[in-house]
Amino acid sequence: MPDKKTYYITTPIYYPSGNMHIGHTYTTVAADTMTRFKKMQGYDTYFLTGLDEHGQKIEKKAQEAGVTPQEYVDKIAVETKALWKLMDIENDDFIRTTEERHMKIVQKIFKQFYDQGDIYKSEYEGMYCTPCESFWTPTQLVDKDGEKVCPDCGRPCQPMKEESYFFRMSKYQDWLIDYIETHPDFIQPASRANEMLTNFLRPGLQDLCVSRTSFKWGVPVDFDDKHVVYVWIDALSNYITALGYGTDHDELFQKFWPADVHLVGKEIVRFHTIYWPIMLHALGLPLPKQVFGHGWLLFGADKMSKSKGNVVYPGPIVERYGVDTLRYYLMREMPFGADGNYTNESFLTRANADLANDLGNLVSRTVAMIEKYFDGLVPAWDESAVDLELDAPLHEHCAALPALVEEQMNKLQFSQALIEIWKVIGECNKYIDATQPWVLGRDPEKQGRLGNVLLTLAECIRFVAVLIGPVMPHTPARIFEQLGVSDPMLMTWESLSSFGKLPAGTKVCKGEALFPRLDVKKELEALAPKKEEKKPEPKKEEKKEPKKVEIPEGCVSIDEFFRCKLRVAKVLSCEAVKKSDKLLKFELDLGNGERRVILSGSHKFYEPEQLLGKNLVIIANLPPRKMMGIESNGMILSAVEEKEDGSEYLRVLTVDGDIAAGSEVG
Ligand code: MSP
Repeated sequence: MPDKKTYYITTPIYYPSGNMHIGHTYTTVAADTMTRFKKMQGYDTYFLTGLDEHGQKIEKKAQEAGVTPQEYVDKIAVETKALWKLMDIENDDFIRTTEERHMKIVQKIFKQFYDQGDIYKSEYEGMYCTPCESFWTPTQLVDKDGEKVCPDCGRPCQPMKEESYFFRMSKYQDWLIDYIETHPDFIQPASRANEMLTNFLRPGLQDLCVSRTSFKWGVPVDFDDKHVVYVWIDALSNYITALGYGTDHDELFQKFWPADVHLVGKEIVRFHTIYWPIMLHALGLPLPKQVFGHGWLLFGADKMSKSKGNVVYPGPIVERYGVDTLRYYLMREMPFGADGNYTNESFLTRANADLANDLGNLVSRTVAMIEKYFDGLVPAWDESAVDLELDAPLHEHCAALPALVEEQMNKLQFSQALIEIWKVIGECNKYIDATQPWVLGRDPEKQGRLGNVLLTLAECIRFVAVLIGPVMPHTPARIFEQLGVSDPMLMTWESLSSFGKLPAGTKVCKGEALFPRLDVKKELEALAPKKEEKKPEPKKEEKKEPKKVEIPEGCVSIDEFFRCKLRVAKVLSCEAVKKSDKLLKFELDLGNGERRVILSGSHKFYEPEQLLGKNLVIIANLPPRKMMGIESNGMILSAVEEKEDGSEYLRVLTVDGDIAAGSEVG
């Protein structure tokens, strides 16, 4: 039997300077999701996470807490492991940089660099940022209110002089530029590769200071114990020390290196795509196949941080709504690579819309109808009762779904993969509306047709249950229980190779709602911080006269532009206005229960049903206007092309992707 294909994925090893929050959870859930997906496809997977326990910051934290650094990190290591268990993270190893297996090899690597002339000893004088543990040259510092601050974290730097070891980064610069240019998949998203080339590599790499004498909490340089190894050299090595690199037991290393992907937040792409490749190249090792720099979960405009007081921890959310709901939200809410905002409101809205309504309702309606019309037994397919127009598109779409999901997952586009799955769920719900099983149920002659409809739905649900498993590890089993699927062969990726494997006679079993609908208002109150500290009344700012800006003729000011309230409006219904050959009447959804009627002169260019469900762009703050006796409240934006023959061609403006009705445009 041929060896299974391998897949090695890592998260950054996190600083245990505090407990892990939802931002760290985001990366870890992404890595877990990917591992489960690859495992489901038959890969031999290895998933590594852990803690980066050395450095001055940790030393200081421990001091403040009145414990030794080791005691400090031990406690956080226990809590971190418990959190990953809670989040259903199935990592294969948890590396801690204070472990001997790691430290010994870091020393060996450092010595090898020294022996082969990549590292040399000199003196360093420069500006040092303690929180980031980085030296900066005067040109790298940035100006903030007249002070020169760290370009990474924006905090002040201090002058520092120390005897140090340096890594000859400059020696490898041309090789790395060439490598990045000839391996377009190495750094993803591609924009991050450009950033590295333009901002760091092409301007020229400085030699990197790779040892410290100003503190002790690190891996000692074994041939010069005044020095400890720079945390990033120490930390990056974890990806190979955990596999036994440099030991007599390096089977894992032989099997899994190079890694398929390092998942990292965008702020540490630089370390993973400049220092790490150079270290590996100097060791004569191949580079990881990919480094993916994902975005941040933001809170308003800020990255989450304890000092800003906007930290969200997963524990209370999981306790209240279950781990699958949080994992779904994290993977669905924002494209991997982009930043996104976390709010309790968006979490609850997403849970209600996608899980309670779309998925939950589909399962409960289907199971209930099989119980009602077929005594709970999945009906058999009846060739004489096929409605090709309705059945074939759904069968084909569902059969194509695994490939669509795979394509997105291989690009680490978790949200896009989920969108593909939810398209089929949406189509199933539309199929119920179109086939109207409750009408078929009244006519004994339509039993065959009704059976086909319900079998189709049950099989689609089986596909969905298998495919959501990597993101939501508990939900498939709950769905299979309701569908009555107990054969493990029907729960596999292979079982999705063709549509129609669900056997007739399977006994469904109606259970609890998969995702009970949440009362958003009540839940927001429950999630709000318990003891709201009374914030001091904001000082009333003196009203400053706005600066006058000259607006050139023919231009509008940005303020003028923003006076137009542009919003996304979803078409709920669209019909021709009687006695008018031009006008269409739209009923539009503007989110939060707001509905609007707008008339538009676009009937020459569209049949009403073409626009159903589309997300249009409207001007929402125009005064009402009556046409043909109907009040129109706003205007639908469209583009008009003037043809050579003087005629016009019109297309309405629609919004790309999946966006909530009512969203502001601008
Ligand atoms: N210890 C280094 C990494 C060394 S890897 C060889 C480090 N640690 S960290 O604790 O600061 O964790 C950083 C990582 O946590 C980020 O790169 C990201 O993966 C994750 N996140 C922390 N906060 C986050 C958000 N608010 N949003 C998304 N990810 C976040 O850097």
